[in-house]
Formats: sequence, structure tokens, C-alpha cells
Amino acid sequence: MIQVKLYRRPDPPVVEEVIGVIHSLQPEWFTEDVPEDTRRDLLFQDVICAEVDGRLRSFLVFTSWEGSISITLMGTHPDYRGIGLGTQLIHALFVHASELGFERVTLLTVPPDVKPQYEHTIKFYKQHGFSVVKRYSEIWGSGAIEMCKNL
Ligand SMILES: CC(C)(COP(=O)(O)OP(=O)(O)OC[C@H]1O[C@@H](n2cnc3c(N)ncnc32)[C@H](O)[C@@H]1OP(=O)(O)O)[C@@H](O)C(=O)NCCC(=O)NCCS
Repeated sequence: MIQVKLYRRPDPPVVEEVIGVIHSLQPEWFTEDVPEDTRRDLLFQDVICAEVDGRLRSFLVFTSWEGSISITLMGTHPDYRGIGLGTQLIHALFVHASELGFERVTLLTVPPDVKPQYEHTIKFYKQHGFSVVKRYSEIWGSGAIEMCKNL
């Protein structure tokens, strides 16, 4: 059974489950600083999670920045990828953000010419209505792509 849940300022057990999914995506997807950065981010941010049979398998950390919802980090445990968990989470975010009166969702992600596997990630976001709006060369050492969707 799949359950989608919103945790505001999640408690430590939820944070540790999120960190567990992050570890499952290292080193291929996330650099070594991501678990600790996320632990700190979650002191001030919220997370929407998909639980499969009671275990957290996919997460979407988000916040608000300059009046828009910003996706800080998203990930699905590799054993559960491609079964629709990420899609359920991003739809839940769109509903939640719209209900709160937000009009835009933005995110930064890794350029595929830096890490080719991120081609899949960009395709995933494009399938959900995001467009690439800018490339920054100064962020994250090798640069970042900003994507945006109007709700
Ligand atoms: C991107 C991600 C969060 C999507 O979550 P998910 O639970 O796999 O999403 P879904 O099951 O809803 O998949 C949606 C589509 O994306 C495709 N997809 C996404 N990432 C993929 C990957 N790495 N490899 C193959 N296909 C991928 C799925 O096959 C599916 O395609 P379809 O709708 O045409 O069948 C997940 O794949 C992931 O954790 N990727 C690595 C980490 C990452 O890039 N995070 C985002 C950083 S900002």
C-alpha cells in the first residue's frame, strides 16, 4: 500500500528515513555533503513522502523562496524508481502549493553535461510541466540548471 504524507518540520525518525533514501542514491546521484545538508535543511523545511508498506521510499523536500515554491531535493529509492512514486509526490506538491496560493514552482538540478544520468531527471521534470529557464555556471562548482513551472 502506498501512502503520501506531508511532514512539516519532520521529526528525527522521518528525517533519518529520508537520509536513508539519500544514501541509497549515493554516490551515483548525490554528493557526500547532501545527507548532512538535508538534515539541516529539514530543521526549516517540509517534506512530502511516499511510504510503501509503511517504509519511506520517496521524498520531496521543499520550501518557499522569494514568493515561489522551491524544490530543494527529491529522490526515490532505486528499487522503487519508475513505479510512479515521484509523480504522486510532485502532484501532491502542486495541489498543496496551489491551495496555499502559490503560482510558481522552481528548482535547481544538475546539468546532464556534468552528470549524464540527470538527463532522466530533467525528462521527469519536463513531463510534469517544468521548463529550463536558466543555466548558472557559478553554482555547485560545475553549474546548475534552473527549471520552473507555473501552477
Ligand atoms: C527523478 C526521480 C525523483 C523520479 O522519481 P520516480 O519515483 O522514479 O518517478 P516516477 O516513477 O513517477 O517516474 C516518472 C518517469 O521518470 C522516469 N525516470 C525518472 N528517473 C529515471 C531514471 N533515473 N532512470 C530511468 N527512468 C527514470 C520513469 O521511468 C518514468 O517515466 P515514464 O513516466 O515515461 O514511465 C527519481 O528517479 C530519482 O530519485 N532520481 C535520482 C535522483 C534525482 O535526480 N533527484 C532529483 C534531484 S533535484
